[in-house]
Amino acid sequence: MSRHVLAISDLSDEEIESILRRAEEMEATLERRTEAAHGGDAGAIPRSAAGRIMATLFYEPSTRTRLSFEAAMWRLGGAVISASDMKSSSASKGETLADTAKVVSSYADVLVLRHFWDGAARVAAEHADVPLINAGDGSHEHPTQTLCDLYTLKRAKGTLRGITVAIGGDLKRGRTAHSLVRALARFKANIVIIPARGMEFPDWLLQKVAEEYGYRPTVARPGDLKALARDVNALYLAPARPHQLTLFTDTEFDLQERLAEAEPITLDALYMTRPQRERRDDTTDDGVEYLRVDTDTFQDPTMRHTVLMHPLPRTGEISSALDRDPRALYFRQAASGVPVRMVLVEMVLAE
Ligand code: ASP
Ligand code: CP
Repeated sequence: MSRHVLAISDLSDEEIESILRRAEEMEATLERRTEAAHGGDAGAIPRSAAGRIMATLFYEPSTRTRLSFEAAMWRLGGAVISASDMKSSSASKGETLADTAKVVSSYADVLVLRHFWDGAARVAAEHADVPLINAGDGSHEHPTQTLCDLYTLKRAKGTLRGITVAIGGDLKRGRTAHSLVRALARFKANIVIIPARGMEFPDWLLQKVAEEYGYRPTVARPGDLKALARDVNALYLAPARPHQLTLFTDTEFDLQERLAEAEPITLDALYMTRPQRERRDDTTDDGVEYLRVDTDTFQDPTMRHTVLMHPLPRTGEISSALDRDPRALYFRQAASGVPVRMVLVEMVLAE
């Protein structure tokens, strides 16, 4: 049986912790190698993929995921085959995803798939004879982005347990947010969700988080961010029982409900996402209030301990004036793609 990674739940706690730990070592090795180019001491990058081939099958555009997977494979001594655009593959003649996965498995040792359908990775994996890694399937999941997010967050905050992370934007169709909320609940972070109106997390996802981790995120509205920034102590959770099973109701605004009998907390991270316009099925969300972070919001002293994250690409959710702020971590998230994916590729190839 091949070792597929289709959702964040395909990785155990121990595996995720080990990936994050080993990615740190890998990043240090990559840095030493860069320094060696300037006369320093080169660290040895493991050639653990030597002689192995990765096939990247991207039915949707990508910059970070595709190029960092490909860079990871080359860095490990492996090679990459690909269709520059799946429209130039036989998919355009009507070949099914199942047949493509089956055929390409006979050319490569690992497949990396991005597709516009929810569940495409699972379908492809059922027909693949080698490990398949989901690089984003429709509005469903993007587990390797979550590994990068957890890695960056843990490095910045030292831990995931007990930190408070606000996730804002298009939570309905944002697959990075879907994988992230499951992982954060699992590692016992507190979660505040700030969906744009009409872009709330799907019920099935919140139900799963409630069933699996006994946790229900706090819900806030985009307009509350200013209030959170100005008066972060107004944001309270129920710290005595943050991870006990609460009776699951719905995703209605419930920040006020949680104000009672609680200790003040700090907003450790704000994770923004862009509206997923390419997967929008109607125009009812035209003109909705969408959370945007600018200097005015982010320079408020009450947010001095808050790191700012985004899986990228950004389309106006974060002002570029914040890029030089040391708390802006989105380019570090993107850079972590190489060491994190190197470790993941090593892992699936070793099994
Ligand atoms: N790049 C991420 C994804 O493919 C996030 C985004 O595109 O908004 O899901
Ligand atoms: N974060 C992310 O998945 O970026 P790409 O869509 O550019 O791969």
